[in-house]
Amino acid sequence: MKSLLIDLVNNTKNLKELELTKSKIFGKNGILTAEFKKLKTIEPKEKKDFAANINDIKQSITLFLEEKKRALEVEENDILMQKDAVDVTMFKSDKNRGAMHPVNETMKEIIDYFLNLNFSIEDGPLVEDDFHNFEALNLPKHHPARDMQDTFYFKDEKLLRTHTSPVQIRTMKDKKPPIRMISPGSVFRRDFDLTHTPMFHQVEGLVVDDEDKVSFSNLKSLLEEFLKHMFGSVDVRFRPSFFPFTEPSAEVDISCIFCKGKGCRVCSKTGWLEVLGCGLIDPNVFKAVGYEGVSGYAFGLGVERFTMLLREIPDLRSLYEGDLRLLEQFR
Ligand code: DAH
Repeated sequence: MKSLLIDLVNNTKNLKELELTKSKIFGKNGILTAEFKKLKTIEPKEKKDFAANINDIKQSITLFLEEKKRALEVEENDILMQKDAVDVTMFKSDKNRGAMHPVNETMKEIIDYFLNLNFSIEDGPLVEDDFHNFEALNLPKHHPARDMQDTFYFKDEKLLRTHTSPVQIRTMKDKKPPIRMISPGSVFRRDFDLTHTPMFHQVEGLVVDDEDKVSFSNLKSLLEEFLKHMFGSVDVRFRPSFFPFTEPSAEVDISCIFCKGKGCRVCSKTGWLEVLGCGLIDPNVFKAVGYEGVSGYAFGLGVERFTMLLREIPDLRSLYEGDLRLLEQFR
């Protein structure tokens, strides 16, 4: 009897079957249950030995069943692990691999450049107030230069920042000079054509220090080196210009990277491409933040413009249409 039951347990192949085996032995019509039922009809003098025997069988089969259960659990776990295992060495085509957006890539390159020069990175809110976006930057109400920036307005003098220059104001109010910062981020204007999208990105730069430590030639050499890093061996020229927050102000051109300065469609036959605005900080800006006895310079650039030039993208809007065919070209 005992060896019959042991065979039965031994031949069980998995946990599900084990339940069946158990009920075959201990169930209502189980083999052992039947043996126990025999006790009622058995001769009294044989009863004791008979009972001792089936109790002994019951005990050892119960133990054996538990052992078998543990063994089957380990076995089934092994099978599961094998089935679910991932072969990390398996070949996978990188056809559908993602990539950084070209604008982010340009942004990263610019940020890395200035981080290496020990500039800090500062941040400001996208929803700005009139004071930080205009007033403190020497753009009082009704100043005609406000029209240069088609602004999205909210109620209560709030607006979507039109440039990253307000971060200059926030940083100067937060910190003490010397300051060497850049501020990358998105800006917003009511503009939409080949070279403008309502949302685009700028990087602002600001350096403030003692008067004898800051000069226009510092600014010039900083930007010349930076532009050569970004565009390769180009000529750089500074053209007098106007920004309310800088005095003197300049716009910076590089020699056209497409025609090498000979004149083509991209540079409108001028041989030059405008890439930056910059200048020495206007005294009115320092007044607005309560700074005295310091000098400074600032610059601002459009990241999309850099990206269009570096990647030869003719229509700026295509950068934000989410068309994978464009992005795949830059993988
Ligand atoms: N904020 C200017 C714009 O959006 C760009 C700019 C020009 C920033 C000159 C500057 C600067 O810091 O000095 O058009």
